[in-house]
Amino acid sequence: MTTELGRLIARRIALTGPISIADFMAEALGHPRLGYYRRALPVGAGGDFITAPEISQMFGELIGAWLAERWIAIGTPSPVHLVELGPGRGTLMADALRATRSVSGFHAALRLHLVETNAPLRAEQHRALGVFAPVWHERFDAVPPGPALVVANEFFDALPVRQFRRTSQGWRERMVGLAADGETLVLALAPGVTPYARYLPVAAEGAEAEIGEAGRDLAAAIGERLLRDGGWALIVDYGYDRGAGTSLQAVRGHQGARILDRPGETDLSAHVDFAALAAATRAPAFGPVSQGSFLCRLGIRQRAQSLKTRASEFQRTAIDAALARLIDPRQMGTLFRVLAVGDGRSTAPAGFSEAE
Ligand SMILES: C[S@@+](CC[C@H](N)C(=O)[O-])C[C@H]1O[C@@H](n2cnc3c(N)ncnc32)[C@H](O)[C@@H]1O
Repeated sequence: MTTELGRLIARRIALTGPISIADFMAEALGHPRLGYYRRALPVGAGGDFITAPEISQMFGELIGAWLAERWIAIGTPSPVHLVELGPGRGTLMADALRATRSVSGFHAALRLHLVETNAPLRAEQHRALGVFAPVWHERFDAVPPGPALVVANEFFDALPVRQFRRTSQGWRERMVGLAADGETLVLALAPGVTPYARYLPVAAEGAEAEIGEAGRDLAAAIGERLLRDGGWALIVDYGYDRGAGTSLQAVRGHQGARILDRPGETDLSAHVDFAALAAATRAPAFGPVSQGSFLCRLGIRQRAQSLKTRASEFQRTAIDAALARLIDPRQMGTLFRVLAVGDGRSTAPAGFSEAE
């Protein structure tokens, strides 16, 4: 059984021919009425996945301290646009703002912008952050000009990617087409050479590759903006330092699923190619470093210790478990990476130097 969105996609393919995986992903996640990121409440224990800020307040608190320090590094501009891409339930930003209450002048200077397409999540964000009078946008480009501090956790992995396979005749793009029944979505290679071949590496037959154009375009827009108006961006996501193979995956109800199954009810995400993102910004980049080392350099162990001094036995166990989940290499510590992008005019940020 497919979904209403699955039937709409099948009809589109029947009318106009196979579509790229990126187009499929854009529909499956972003269709205005039926897309996965338009309707459900995907984040949190009841949703399809739990993110770092939902695991522990320490994550948002340390990122808040990092952002406030960057505000000081760029000369405490007022106003400064504090922008979060894909804020989920608003937990990261609420923790970040609570942790920076005592930074003199910071809250008075900031204008909060939330880039979010999901209406139920916007309502949650309003509950968590309404006192900071946030302004919501559909796209990053809509944030008004001026110095900016941008943060994105698990946002770039939701942006569409194209997939390719190297055949004996060169690189071919993997497309979404229709089976003979005219209804079932299937994956197949396009018959001709892809125009993207010039961006793909020399590779042996059978090699696979992914290109995330939307992510690169957004990184380019962020970089251009920071170089022009000043500011910093912090991007946290799971991914790799340099492009390798394909990584698109589907999750439904905390379980792996098939990519084409039940579009609109299934989360689709791809590992972020951090080298491509950093290059696309054309701005000074720091990292990527592992989330574990970034958080340790910012003092997460000390923060955990201080939270534990006021905690019950049960809470102390929970704090230790959350700490392990965020920094342990076998959990989120290594798979998740952190990249900072700056304006080329301010000092190096905390969290990226071996010396810390
Ligand atoms: C995986 S969730 C991460 C949420 C949050 N950052 C966290 O760490 O809990 C992705 C977030 O990005 C939003 N989102 C996904 N695609 C988007 C798009 N193309 N434009 C704007 N927001 C998007 C989702 O609705 C959600 O808030």
